[in-house]
Amino acid sequence: MQNKTFYIKTWGCQMNVYDSDKIKTLLLQHGYSAVEDEKTADVIVLNTCSIRENASEKLFSLLGRIKKTNPNAITIVAGCVAQVESKKITKNTIADIVVGTHMYHKIPQLIAELKEEKLVDIEFKPYEKFDSLPVDQESSTQTGYIAIQEGCNHFCTYCIVPFTRGREYSRPAEDIVAEAKHLISKGKKEIFLLGQNVNCYKTDNDDFADLLYKVAEIPGVERLRYMTSYPSDMTDRAIEAHKNIPNLMPYMHLPAQAGDSDVLKSMNREYTVEEYLEKIDLVYKARPDIAITSDFIVGFPGETEEQFQRTVELVKKVKYASCYSFKYSPRPGTPAEKMEQMPEEIKEKRLAILQATIKEYQQKFNNKFIGKTVHVLVEKVENGQLNGRGEHFQSVFANNEDKSLVGSIVAVKITSAGTNSLTGELV
Ligand code: SAH
Ligand code: SF4
Ligand code: F3S
Repeated sequence: MQNKTFYIKTWGCQMNVYDSDKIKTLLLQHGYSAVEDEKTADVIVLNTCSIRENASEKLFSLLGRIKKTNPNAITIVAGCVAQVESKKITKNTIADIVVGTHMYHKIPQLIAELKEEKLVDIEFKPYEKFDSLPVDQESSTQTGYIAIQEGCNHFCTYCIVPFTRGREYSRPAEDIVAEAKHLISKGKKEIFLLGQNVNCYKTDNDDFADLLYKVAEIPGVERLRYMTSYPSDMTDRAIEAHKNIPNLMPYMHLPAQAGDSDVLKSMNREYTVEEYLEKIDLVYKARPDIAITSDFIVGFPGETEEQFQRTVELVKKVKYASCYSFKYSPRPGTPAEKMEQMPEEIKEKRLAILQATIKEYQQKFNNKFIGKTVHVLVEKVENGQLNGRGEHFQSVFANNEDKSLVGSIVAVKITSAGTNSLTGELV
């Protein structure tokens, strides 16, 4: 056994959190121990995100700091920036190893092989990654996360993900079911299926709806969730699953991106606003109380004031439970980067307007729960309060000292609602 320490820093989406957890498991299996500070670690892993410009800038500033505070550590850059900017990283920073989004399983081997020369491995081999990474999960949450697919074939004109994660790859359903059973046997209560576009999931035998039924029926899966879905790939059967599967939680993240069909077209989203709204109708018919959430981009090249207003209208029409919204950020090598860009002030103004509307509807959605009982999967009990997620994925708080409730599902009667959480009393 080696007596070396490692530190992992993670930026970005749930997939990156999932990947970092696997890297952590792998390094622990190789005899390393984890530390919480990059200054004392022998090995530093930076798992990066490239979705917007400021996400990748953070990497370069941290690498600059590490050069001063811990220059002798083995520094590994992993993730989406590593995949697309390996040359810049090896040329301009102290990083020793650059490892792409499909090559995490090679980290221990690359550390062993490292001599004077910097090492780079950015091949796309999703099957090899999923076959080689450990199925155990280090993070102690009540939720077991499983990547069911990786990559994207949609090529939205603003997005870097098809270049950082490669083409769509769906894991065999048997492997996913086995991983879910394993996580349940380790005490997880909820299974969360992850992917860049989970509902594009497709193998020779199964589509996404089939997979939902297969995972939901595993004994011990008290709750099932998934993220993210692409609107036009949401099939009637996958929508119907929300009516038919009792342990599939009433929550759907269905990013619209914009409320104007011409903007959607220029983004290369494969649906119109009307088609999006038809899907939403079907979803509400299948599960009237469902929480629908979305992502939006404002200030996409060419977006007029009227087109932006249609995005605000869409938020009001759908009555989202919550949304993420972003200013458009040009990404290297994507088609939208070459379009004529909007001034920053307009982007900022639109973002503020959209966020105010989103917040208003988020509050309205949460207010509906006052006086109702929600069922909370307890994540933690701290400072006299329990906290966990209700069925609709809101964070719920209630007064309680009993630590033995962690991991159980408790009934909480809601007494007040904020934009980001609900508060209530145990019943
Ligand atoms: N596959 C998902 C989105 C994954 S990326 C989907 O298609 O819906 C997460 C979110 O980041 C996107 O939904 C989008 O709103 C935002 N995003 C992606 N590229 C961006 C860019 N260049 N500028 C600003 N926001 C962006
Ligand atoms: Fe990016 Fe579009 Fe693929 Fe989503 S569907 S990951 S936004 S290219
Ligand atoms: Fe970021 Fe890569 Fe996820 S770009 S959002 S970490 S897929």
